[in-house]
Amino acid sequence: MHIEQIREAADAIRSRVTGTPVIGVILGSGLGEYADRFSSPTILPYEDIPHFPKSTVPGHKGRLVFQEMHGRLIMAMQGRFHYYEGYDMETVTFPVRVMGQLGVRRLILTNAAGGVNTGFEAGDLMLITDHINYMGVNPLRGAHEPEFGERFPDMSHVYHPDDARVFEAVAQERGIRLRKGVYMAFSGPSYETPAEIRMARTLGADAVGMSTVPEAIVATQMGMRVSGVSCVTNLAAGIEGAKLDHADVMAAANRAKDMFIALIDGVIQEFCRKEQ
Ligand code: HPA
Repeated sequence: MHIEQIREAADAIRSRVTGTPVIGVILGSGLGEYADRFSSPTILPYEDIPHFPKSTVPGHKGRLVFQEMHGRLIMAMQGRFHYYEGYDMETVTFPVRVMGQLGVRRLILTNAAGGVNTGFEAGDLMLITDHINYMGVNPLRGAHEPEFGERFPDMSHVYHPDDARVFEAVAQERGIRLRKGVYMAFSGPSYETPAEIRMARTLGADAVGMSTVPEAIVATQMGMRVSGVSCVTNLAAGIEGAKLDHADVMAAANRAKDMFIALIDGVIQEFCRKEQ
C-alpha cells in the first residue's frame, strides 16, 4: 500500500474527527463491544474511508470509533483484516499505518486465541509478552518506505514492559486473573492440528491465533508502543479432544467480554493519564 493512500485515508479521518488520537486499540473477534459502550463516540464506517478494505468475518463490525477520555482521544477499530481473508499483508496492516500517520503512540492489540499452555483455561485473558511469526510472510517485505521507519527494525522489545506492568496493575486492582505468554500466529483459516499444537508448545508458544503479529510488526517499525491481550476462547486442538468451532470461539469471547472490557478500560484510562 502506498504512502499516498495512507495519507489520503488519514486526511479523510482528520476531516471528520477533532483532535489527534494518541491511543489505538484493535478489537478482535467478539471483543468489539468495548467501543459500543463509549459515551460520545464519533463513528466512521470503513467504507467511508478511502482505501480502507472491507471486513468479511462475522462478529467484526468494520468501523472506527473515536472517543475522548481524560482529555485524550482514543481510536478503536471494531473489526480487523486478516491474512486468511485473502488480503495481502499491506492491506492487513493498512489501518495500523493510518493510525501511525494520525499520531497514535500506543497501540493495544486484542484477539481471540487458542490456549496452548496446558495450565490455561477457556475464558482466560493472556497478556502477550512476545510473539512468534509463523505466518510465513512478513508485512515489511517489499519496497522500503523510510518515512515508516527502519528497513530492519529491532524486535527485541515489541511488547513494552512498562505498558505490560500497567495491564498487570489494572488486572490486580480489578480482580482479573491475567495470564502471560507468547502468542504464535498461524495464517489460518483452518485451525491447527494436534501435531501443530504440540509443535507450537515445543517452540515456546502459550497461545495460537491468526492475527495480531503483522500489526505488531508494523506498529513497532513505526515506533509505536505495542501491547496485546488474547482472550483464550478454547484450548487448542488435541488438548481436550473436542472439535473446534468458530461459533464456540465467538460464544467464549462473548462470555469473557465483561472481564476483557474491565481490563482494557482500566488500561486505556491509565494510558491516557500517562499521555498527559
Ligand atoms: N487457533 C487459532 N486461532 C484461534 C483459536 C485456535 O484454537 N481460537 C481462537 N482463535
